[in-house]
Amino acid sequence: MIQRKSKREIEMMAEAGKLLAEVHKELAKLIKPGVTTKQIDQFVEKYLAEHGATPEQKGYNGYKYATCASINDEICHGFPRDEALKNGDIVTIDMVVNLNGGLADSAWTYAVGDVDEKTERFLNVTKTSLYKGIEQAQVGNRIGDIGHAIQQYAEAEGYAVVRDFTGHGIGPSIHEAPHIPHYGLPGKGTRLKEGMAITIEPMLNEGSWHSKMDDNNWTARTVDGERSAQFEHTIIITQDGPLILTEQES
Ligand code: MF3
Ligand code: CO
Repeated sequence: MIQRKSKREIEMMAEAGKLLAEVHKELAKLIKPGVTTKQIDQFVEKYLAEHGATPEQKGYNGYKYATCASINDEICHGFPRDEALKNGDIVTIDMVVNLNGGLADSAWTYAVGDVDEKTERFLNVTKTSLYKGIEQAQVGNRIGDIGHAIQQYAEAEGYAVVRDFTGHGIGPSIHEAPHIPHYGLPGKGTRLKEGMAITIEPMLNEGSWHSKMDDNNWTARTVDGERSAQFEHTIIITQDGPLILTEQES
C-alpha cells in the first residue's frame, strides 16, 4: 500500500531533511584526499547525536554503519572503511536521518581533491538527471514519467542508468512502496498523488549499467570497473509541485 503523509508527518520529515542537508554541507568541507570513509561515518554519527537525531541505516537489515560510502566503481552500499580517499576519487555518501521519527534520505557524490573535466561533467550530468526526475514528480503524472526523464537525458549525455536499484517510498520505514525506477516509459506505472513521500536517486555509470554484488552481500559495483555516481533527494508530491526536503541551499 502506498501511504500518503499527513501535514504533521511531512513537517517531521522536513525537519529531518533540513538536518540531513546540513550534514552534506559539512561533508563537502570535510572530504579531502587522506580522509577515510570511516572518519566520515564517525563524523556523521557524532553530528547527528549532537542534533538529537539517529542514523536510521545502522541496524537496518543488519547494516552496521551510519552511512554508505561508495568509491569510484562502487555503485551503492559501500562500507565505510580505513582506506584514505585519494586525489581524483569520487565518493558517494548516502544516509537516512531519523529525527523524532521523521525520516529523510539523501545521497551525494563528492569529488575528492582535484578532478578532471571528464569527472566534473559526469557528476554534473548525474546531478542534473536527479532534477529532471524531480520535475516530473507532479500530482497526476505517473512513476514512469520520472524514470523516462532521467533515462532520456542521461543516455543522451552518454551514460548508463543502473537498473538494479531504485528510488522508493519512505516513512515510517526506509523502504516503502512504491519502487521508483530511474528508467522507464512515459505515462506508465502508478499515478502520483498528493502526500506521497518518495526518494529519487539516480545512479549513472560511465560504462555498462550492469552491476555485480560483492561477497559482503551489500556492496554493488560496476561489472566493467568504470565509475558510478549518484545524487538523491527525498521529496513530497504536493499540489504546488515537488517539495524537496533535503535541498542544500548553497
Ligand atoms: N539510502 C539507501 C538506499 O535507499 C539506504 C540503504 S539502507 C542501508 O538504498 F542499510 F543499506 F544502508
Ligand atoms: Co534511498
